[in-house]
Amino acid sequence: DVQRALVLAKPDAVRRHLVGRIIARYEAKGLDVIALELRRVSVTLASQHYAEHVERPFYQSLIDFITSGPLVAMVIEGEHAIEAVRAINGATDGVKAAPGTLRGDFCVSNQQNLVHASDSPASAAREIALWFPDLR
Ligand code: CMP
Repeated sequence: DVQRALVLAKPDAVRRHLVGRIIARYEAKGLDVIALELRRVSVTLASQHYAEHVERPFYQSLIDFITSGPLVAMVIEGEHAIEAVRAINGATDGVKAAPGTLRGDFCVSNQQNLVHASDSPASAAREIALWFPDLR
């Protein structure tokens, strides 16, 4: 079934000039970019986005990082898009992520890990409504 996923190319991706290569991998897979915006994220939006992590020890540092500079938010659509995007991204920790994945190829951190992607249809619906409220 056709799904939509929210993807954030995080501030490290923008700083390291990797955004083009990140988008190219989703496109090469046959997925569609149906919304895209470069934006600076407020602490308010960041805390709504990461609400489920509020009790984690790394929460404050996660908010500091995601608001540290512009990021590129996008909605990716296609067949099984949520699972397909997560396969392209690789495991959360860049050290453990398989070579060939974005994180496996381009980072060594579990926080500055280039991308965020929705992990389920429910989180995709919530995140897309949060980041792209006007998208139909
Ligand atoms: P993301 O998919 O954006 O969702 C939650 C984020 O928390 C995750 O990617 C990482 O960037 C970050 N994260 C997860 N685990 C840790 C950790 N142990 N230390 C610091 N950051 C983490």
